[in-house]
Amino acid sequence: MRKISVIGAGYVGLVTGTCFADLGNQVICVDIDEEKIAKLKAGTIPFYEPGLEEMVRRNAQSGRLRFTTSYPEGIKEAEFVFIAVNTPSGAEGEADLKYIRMAAEGIAKVMDHPLIIVNKSTVPIGTGDWMAEIVEEYAHPEIEFTVVSNPEFLREGAAIGDFLNPDRIVLGSTNREAAEQVAQLYLSLRAPIMITDLRTAEMIKYASNAYLANRISFINEIASICEKLGADVKEVAIGMGYDKRIGPDYLDAGLGWGGSCFPKDVKALEHMASIHGCHPQLLRAVMEINRDQRRLIIQTLREIVGTLHGKTIGILGLAFKPNTDDMREAPSIEVIHLLTSEGARIKAYDPVAMEVAKGIMPDVTYCSDPYQMAEGSDALIAVTEWNEFQHLDMVRVKELMRQPVLIDGRNIYDPQKLGELGFIYRGVGRGYEGPTVISEVKKAAS
Ligand code: UDX
Ligand code: UDX
Repeated sequence: MRKISVIGAGYVGLVTGTCFADLGNQVICVDIDEEKIAKLKAGTIPFYEPGLEEMVRRNAQSGRLRFTTSYPEGIKEAEFVFIAVNTPSGAEGEADLKYIRMAAEGIAKVMDHPLIIVNKSTVPIGTGDWMAEIVEEYAHPEIEFTVVSNPEFLREGAAIGDFLNPDRIVLGSTNREAAEQVAQLYLSLRAPIMITDLRTAEMIKYASNAYLANRISFINEIASICEKLGADVKEVAIGMGYDKRIGPDYLDAGLGWGGSCFPKDVKALEHMASIHGCHPQLLRAVMEINRDQRRLIIQTLREIVGTLHGKTIGILGLAFKPNTDDMREAPSIEVIHLLTSEGARIKAYDPVAMEVAKGIMPDVTYCSDPYQMAEGSDALIAVTEWNEFQHLDMVRVKELMRQPVLIDGRNIYDPQKLGELGFIYRGVGRGYEGPTVISEVKKAAS
């Protein structure tokens, strides 16, 4: 049992703290947001993450997980302090480090015993060294500390599983012994643990997220070509994925990547690279393709329904991906903005993100279910691939709509089946007739 403090009880910090408590450690989460801490003390999770509420309650009841807004209380017994505050995009696309600075100062001012400070937030290369300078400036000169970088690779909606079954743990530090102590915290997870230097660890996080965003933009570019040439990108991705050198994940074409990480991290890496004299053309293209995905779908819609002025468009799914209520950089926001700027009226439905969405887009009509949303709509756009959308009664949906037009921004539906039901269907990068020969190959393989 080790004593761990986590600064920042957001998506990453709360999952990290709770999972460490679940592994048997004594954890205290510190957050400057009083309302958030009050909710957590009462056993309420301020956002939607499957399995987290139950895990928080269980560990809080056992006394292994506590919450506070006070740095002195949070740091007083800690051996390890994890920093998991947000690092939003600044005006030029750079990562804004003001919260990291606040956390480093906050820790330094109250620490009265040796500490290992572990940074989980995604920060520009070199930030670990900079944090050490800040702590040195504010801390008592005789108190020893070390900064270790330990980037997080948690996917929202699957964060607990990702924490407990990681592909790898990356640790970076100038002090190998400190990194090895942090490694001990993860030993029971039986994952590969890589220890490297601070800057390399920080770069691994950016390079990983940029690579994943790059894969998605790549398949989206292939999707555009498929569309023009009559191939089906969904089948193309399956065929590519069988190659072990490529693999099947992160090849879903659609409206592109959003969320709290890919957009800000690709932007920050591009910024970091360009201010250091590099020409990150690939990263720029990756972002440009992503922007285009949302615009192309509006063009597809216009081709089918004509002018969007006065049309009612139903938006199926608002969260940036399924199993979360996170709306940060959600493609739905841009799609809805483009539609309303052309005079369309918007109805929308999402299983969990509507409360958050109401604060961002008050003029949308939010519906209690997908059928209410379909009623009187001139077209539907599927924006988030929630599981439940695959099981809709599409005959009923069609009857309720003014015109049976379905733009499938996540390739959820079978083009052939919807065609047979009488829908005018367009996916992303899918031949209009749907796959023919390739489905036979799939049968042979199964
Ligand atoms: C994390 C970050 O670590 C980011 O770098 C990474 O790229 C994505 O994940 P996330 O957990 O999504 O960010 O952020 P958020 O949910 O906004 O939580 C941050 C928390 O830190 C908030 O609860 C905020 O109140 C808290 N905070 C912020 C502090 O406690 N102190 C501060 O000084 C600033
Ligand atoms: C990501 C990283 O996966 C995680 O390792 C990191 O630490 C935080 O950022 P997250 O943003 O929660 O996680 O979600 P992820 O599942 O990676 O999806 C990101 C975006 O890419 C979503 O908008 C999703 O819809 C999109 N996506 C994903 C695709 O468009 N196609 C795909 O094949 C996969």
